Amino acid sequence: MVAIVTGASGGIGADLARVLAREGRDLALVARDGARLAALAGEIERGGRPRPLVVPLDLARPDAGEKLAGELAAAGASPDILVNNAGFGLAGLAGDLDRAGQIEIVDLNIRALTGLTLRFLPEIVAARGRVLNVASVAAFLPGPGMAVYYASKAFVVSFSDALSAELAGTGVTVTTLCPGVTRTGFQARAGVAGGLLKALPGMSAMAVAEAGYRGMMAGRRRVVPGLTNKLLVAILPFVPGAILLPLMARVQARRRAP
Ligand SMILES: NC(=O)c1ccc[n+]([C@@H]2O[C@H](COP(=O)([O-])OP(=O)(O)OC[C@H]3O[C@@H](n4cnc5c(N)ncnc54)[C@H](OP(=O)(O)O)[C@@H]3O)[C@@H](O)[C@H]2O)c1
Repeated sequence: MVAIVTGASGGIGADLARVLAREGRDLALVARDGARLAALAGEIERGGRPRPLVVPLDLARPDAGEKLAGELAAAGASPDILVNNAGFGLAGLAGDLDRAGQIEIVDLNIRALTGLTLRFLPEIVAARGRVLNVASVAAFLPGPGMAVYYASKAFVVSFSDALSAELAGTGVTVTTLCPGVTRTGFQARAGVAGGLLKALPGMSAMAVAEAGYRGMMAGRRRVVPGLTNKLLVAILPFVPGAILLPLMARVQARRRAP
């Protein structure tokens, strides 16, 4: 049995892989950057665990799920845990940003996450295993200035909550991890330059990963790591859109690279 971790070449995914390895799980690591995956596999092996299977793959491509299934089958490995962590966003107005880049957000954050979940669900059900999908606090509000990213994370929460209810009683749990600002490579790829959210210290990727792992093993439906993020998610449903939308538009405009 292996735990698949997507987006394991850095940030939250790499630390989720480290935590899973520490807890005795065998791993399959997936991301585009094979060298960084191999470095992490070496680190885990030096820590006394079996060397993880390294699968360099662009998950935004439609054939990625089949390729990953082929690699696992060739290695004689079957997943009992799936961590859908790979994801990215782009800061900017939807009408100004590159169209292909924004569609790629949908391809990775929505289509690949859904495809891998559906592809591996029969094996996970047979093993009474677990799914951990990484969303964001962005799932709980619209994000003018990062519209496609925020909407993609709303999909992740909706899909994962529904799936967890469909699987109730099977022994399989589906957990959604909803981090707030976390110190990773995310901001650089998104084109975030400054503003309030950049000024916030944010959580460490390891603190987010530990919270996600604990929540997944406890079978929790949602995990919002950190007190500030918990308060934000609790308050957001009570803030009228007429206030929230222009506020978010201003916050996002300040954090964009010129
Ligand atoms: N950091 C934050 O503030 C924050 C807040 C809330 C939610 N999140 C979510 O947390 C998750 C992890 O992000 P992170 O913060 O750890 O960012 P990160 O450091 O940029 O890591 C993203 C990971 O996704 C992988 N990835 C990106 N595009 C890919 C593709 N096409 N195919 C396969 N893998 C791909 C990257 O690896 P390669 O480049 O090697 O492919 C990397 O391993 C994401 O879903 C993100 O939306 C982050």
